[in-house]
Amino acid sequence: MSALPNELQAAAIDATTKSALDEIAKASNLEELKEVKLRHVGDKSAIALANRQIGTLSAEHKAEVGARIGKARQIINQAFDEREKVLDRIALNQALETERVDITEALFSPLAGARHPISMISERVADVFTAMGWEIKEGPELEAEWLNFDALNIPDNHPARSMQDTFYIGDENSHLVLRTHTSPVQARVMLSSTPPIYVGVPGRVFRTDELDATHTPVFHQVEALAVDKGLTMADLRGTLDHFAQALFGPHAKTRLRPSYFPFTEPSAELDLWFEDAKGGARWIEWGGCGMVNPAVLLACGIDPEEYSGFAFGVGLERTAMFRHTITDMRDIVEGDIRFSRQFGVDPL
Ligand code: DAH
Repeated sequence: MSALPNELQAAAIDATTKSALDEIAKASNLEELKEVKLRHVGDKSAIALANRQIGTLSAEHKAEVGARIGKARQIINQAFDEREKVLDRIALNQALETERVDITEALFSPLAGARHPISMISERVADVFTAMGWEIKEGPELEAEWLNFDALNIPDNHPARSMQDTFYIGDENSHLVLRTHTSPVQARVMLSSTPPIYVGVPGRVFRTDELDATHTPVFHQVEALAVDKGLTMADLRGTLDHFAQALFGPHAKTRLRPSYFPFTEPSAELDLWFEDAKGGARWIEWGGCGMVNPAVLLACGIDPEEYSGFAFGVGLERTAMFRHTITDMRDIVEGDIRFSRQFGVDPL
C-alpha cells in the first residue's frame, strides 16, 4: 500500500478543518466571513487542493480520503451557513438601530412663505372678471411705442410721452418703450379680434418715478375693455359698482368725475367709496374710465358706427393698499417676507 501524502492524512485534514472553524467563529461581520470562506473552501484553499489530488490516489486511498474530505467540507460549510445566519441577524439589527426614525422627535417646521399681496390682488381681480364671463388677457411689458401711445390717440406732443415719464428702450428710433400703462393691450385685443369683446388685463407697468411712499417706477394696473353693440355709460357704471363690491364688499360704490383721457370720450376719474377698518368712510381716487374714443376704435379696425365700448384702468398697488390698510408703497416693493406673510391668506 503506497504512502498517503501528509496533507491528505486525517491529522492534516482535521487541522485544516479546525483552523477553518476557528476563523469562522471569529469572523465578526459578513465581509470577514466571506474572506474566510474564500480562504478555506475557495479554489486555492487547502481543502480544494487536497480534493484535486484524490484522482491521483490509488483505489484503496481514494474512498477513504474522498470520504474524509467530503466530511470536512460538509462540516466547514455548515459552520459557514450557521455563522452567516448569526451575522446576518446582527447586521439587520444594527441597520434597524442606526436607521431608526424617531417619530417623537420635535422638528422645526420650515418657515412657510407667503403670496405677495400684489399677486393675490391680481388673481382676485382676474377672478372677478372671469366670474362676469370676461376673458383675461396679457400683453408684453416691452411695448411698441405706437401701441402704447398712438393707437390710443395719445399724440406725439402729449406730456405722458415725454422722456420724463417713459422708459424708452434703446434710442428713440427703436420705438420701443416699457409700457406706461396696460391700455395698449386694449389696442392689441381690438386689432386681433372682433366684437363682442370683454377683457380684463392685469399687468406690470413702468414709469420714471422715484420710489417713495406713494410712487414706484414699477407698478401694476388692471385694464378693462368692453366693446359691443349699444354699450353706454350705464354699462360702465354698473360694471364699476360690481367690480368695486366684488373687491371691497357690498357697501362699496363708485363715483365718476368728468376728466380727460385721449383714449376715452367722455372720460372720467373713478372714485371709490371706501370704508376703512376703523369705520371711517370717504371717497378715494381709484383710477380712470370712459367710453372708448371712436378714434381709438377706428385705429384698431372697429367701426364706431356699429360698436361702442367702455374702458377703465385702476392701479393694483393702490387697490391692495386700501384693502389691506398698507400705508407705504415701499413695503410692497421691498419684498420683505415679514410683510408678505401678513397677507398670506386672503381675508375676503
Ligand atoms: N391708462 C390710464 C393710466 O395709466 C388709466 C386709464 C384711464 C385706463 C381711463 C382706461 C381708461 O382704460 O378708460 O393712467
